[in-house]
Amino acid sequence: MKYKAYLVEENEGTFSGSIKELDTPEISEGKVLIKVEYSSLNYKDALAASGAKGVVRSYPFVPGVDVAGEILESTSNNFSKGDRVIATGYKMGMAEFGGFGEIVHLPEEWVIKSPDNLSNFEAMSLGTAGITAAECVKKITDKNISHNLPIIVSGSTGGVGSVAVSLLSKLGYEVHAITGKPDEVEILKSIGASEIISRNEFMKEPAKALDKGIYGSAVDTVGGDILAKIISMISNQGVVSCCGNVGGAMFTSSVFPFILRGVQLSGVDSAESPIEIKKELWNLLSNKWSLDLANQTRTINISNVGPEIDKILQGGQIGRVVIQHGDK
Ligand SMILES: NC(=O)c1ccc[n+]([C@@H]2O[C@H](COP(=O)([O-])OP(=O)(O)OC[C@H]3O[C@@H](n4cnc5c(N)ncnc54)[C@H](OP(=O)(O)O)[C@@H]3O)[C@@H](O)[C@H]2O)c1
Repeated sequence: MKYKAYLVEENEGTFSGSIKELDTPEISEGKVLIKVEYSSLNYKDALAASGAKGVVRSYPFVPGVDVAGEILESTSNNFSKGDRVIATGYKMGMAEFGGFGEIVHLPEEWVIKSPDNLSNFEAMSLGTAGITAAECVKKITDKNISHNLPIIVSGSTGGVGSVAVSLLSKLGYEVHAITGKPDEVEILKSIGASEIISRNEFMKEPAKALDKGIYGSAVDTVGGDILAKIISMISNQGVVSCCGNVGGAMFTSSVFPFILRGVQLSGVDSAESPIEIKKELWNLLSNKWSLDLANQTRTINISNVGPEIDKILQGGQIGRVVIQHGDK
C-alpha cells in the first residue's frame, strides 16, 4: 500500500521537499501504524525540513513531530484498530518519519489514546506547542506563584508563546507579552495579553545584574539576551520556564536573581518528557485547561506547507498552523 508524504531530500547540500508516494512499512513488533488525520507545524519541523544540523539523522526524510489520527494496525495489547490516538515528540520527526506523512509507524510507548473530549483537530491546534506551553505553565502553577504580579511571555505570537499567553490568561494571571510584531497588538489582546511589549523596546537597555522584580514568573520561548533580561526582572521565588532558542542559544546572567531572590530557572524538554507527564498534560488541556484556539489557528493542506516553513524560519509565525492530509 502507498501513502503520500512531504518528503525532504538532499541534493548536493541543498534541501527541498515535495509530496511523494511512499510504501507503507510492514508493521514491526512493539509498534503501531497510525493513519494521520492532522499534524501541525512547529519550529523544529521547519528546521528538519530545511536541513538544519543536528535535527534529522539522515535524508530523505519526512518531518512532523505531531500526529493525531487512528490506529490502522497494532502489535500492542494497548491499542486496537480504530482507536483515536495522539503522538508528539520523542524521535518522531527526527529519526522516525513523522506527521508530514499520511501514515506513521511508531513504538507503542510514544502513543497515547486521545481524550474523548478532544477532537483530532483540537489536539493538533495544540500539538507540541500546546503541551510545551502547558509544561512551562505547570512549572509556575506547581509553585503556587501568586497572581499579584504579571507573568511575562516572550515570542508571544509564536506557537508555544501564543498558547502560553492564552493558558496563563485563562488561569487568571495578568500576562505581559513580548513580541517582535508590535502590529499584532489586537491578536495578542484577544488571546489574553493585557500589556504588549515591543521586543526592541524591551532590549533597548542591556540586562542588569539585578533589575526591579516586576514579574512574578515567566515563560521564555526565545532564549539568548531576552532570557537574560527576563531573569533579572523576576520577583522573589519566581519561576522562569525556559524552552526555546530562536533568539539565541547563549546568555549571560549574574547569580543575583538566583541567590538574592531564589529565582528558579526551569528547563522544559517536552519531546522527551515521560509519557505519563504527556498524558497528564493532554488531560489538563482537554479539561480544566481547555482552550479555544480557533482565533489563533490556521489550517493548511500538506501540499501547501513549503511557504509556511519559510515563514516560521523567518520568525513570521502567528499562532498555530494545523496540517491536514488528503483532499479535504
Ligand atoms: N523545549 C521544548 O520542549 C520545546 C518544544 C517546542 C518548541 N521549542 C522551542 O521553542 C521555540 C519556539 O517554538 P515555536 O514552535 O513556538 O516557534 P514559532 O512559532 O516560530 O515562535 C517563535 C516566536 O519567537 C519570536 N522570535 C522569532 N525570532 C526571534 C528572534 N530572533 N529573537 C527573538 N524572538 C524571536 C517570534 O515571536 P514574536 O514576533 O511575537 O516575538 C516567533 O513567532 C523554538 O526555539 C523551539 O525550538 C522547544
